[in-house]
Amino acid sequence: MLKGRHVISLADFTKDELLLILDTADALKLKVKYGEPHRYLEGKTLGMIFERPSTRTRVSFEVGMTQLGGHAQFLASESLQLARGEPIKDTARVLSRYVDGIMYRGGFEPLLELVKYSSVPVISAAAKGSGTNHPCQVLADFQTIREKKLRFEGLRVALCWVSGDPSIDYKKPPTLVYDYIFACSKLGMELVLACPEGYDPFSPEVIGRAKRQTESNGAPFRVVRDLHEAVVGADVIHCKNWVPVNFPDDQKPAHFLYPEKYKRWIIDGQVVSRGKRDVIVMNALPAYRGYELTDEVMEGPHSVVFDEAENRLHAQKAVMALVMR
Ligand code: CP
Repeated sequence: MLKGRHVISLADFTKDELLLILDTADALKLKVKYGEPHRYLEGKTLGMIFERPSTRTRVSFEVGMTQLGGHAQFLASESLQLARGEPIKDTARVLSRYVDGIMYRGGFEPLLELVKYSSVPVISAAAKGSGTNHPCQVLADFQTIREKKLRFEGLRVALCWVSGDPSIDYKKPPTLVYDYIFACSKLGMELVLACPEGYDPFSPEVIGRAKRQTESNGAPFRVVRDLHEAVVGADVIHCKNWVPVNFPDDQKPAHFLYPEKYKRWIIDGQVVSRGKRDVIVMNALPAYRGYELTDEVMEGPHSVVFDEAENRLHAQKAVMALVMR
């Protein structure tokens, strides 16, 4: 059903396709647990191009390919001819002659070029730019949500912007927000997006379009400016720091310049207590502890962040097994 498909945004997948990936991820997780062989990609190779650092993505894709009987080749962009200017469209056509799938972490525009010229499936592993996305992270998140809540329909998800450490000059892009909007809508979940004025992850026009689409699916979506309001009655709190989309690299975002003003944008015990009694707290990691969420919350009973990180492995194995087989 998904053989040969590119995996760029969850907006491109139907509800049935999303459920197929998640069901496959659950089945593969059980196979690992019970030591059952599942070498579905014997003899196949995944090329992994990284233009930015990674812990979870790199290791989980590589381990995943090993468990599926194949091989993953790590290709740091600075070690490729890309670094001296070879066009990505040439890289795409050359790699397509060697490998069976390409995983890419880099810019959104180069990702589109890669997709255009690749004859093997391309899997986005977080793209930065106008079409920012992180579909594999969101699939892992949704696998985790269903494991904990046993359903999707009717759940309330609060996706919250949270402050980053202003002493670390690293600007996180709003990857995963767009995938959350579309996956929540397709799976019948309410989404509350909380962020301060000026931190909307997309233009008002895109947010408006997303609202109309989600509402027509019967899944409410709203943007609120108060973190404490956003989490009331939540089943899931996902926290993430980001700078506005397409934020200039040479400028400092407001939360770096005026950290006091953004101090309340942190997931602490008080925020968690406003969710449902069994609310789960998620973060894609790496987290700025003490700025995105407190140590107490990250290590506390509501946190599922390490289950979420583990599910990167199972969700990506499902994606690879379905599109590269
Ligand atoms: N969440 C995530 O993508 O982690 P890495 O940057 O470590 O891959």
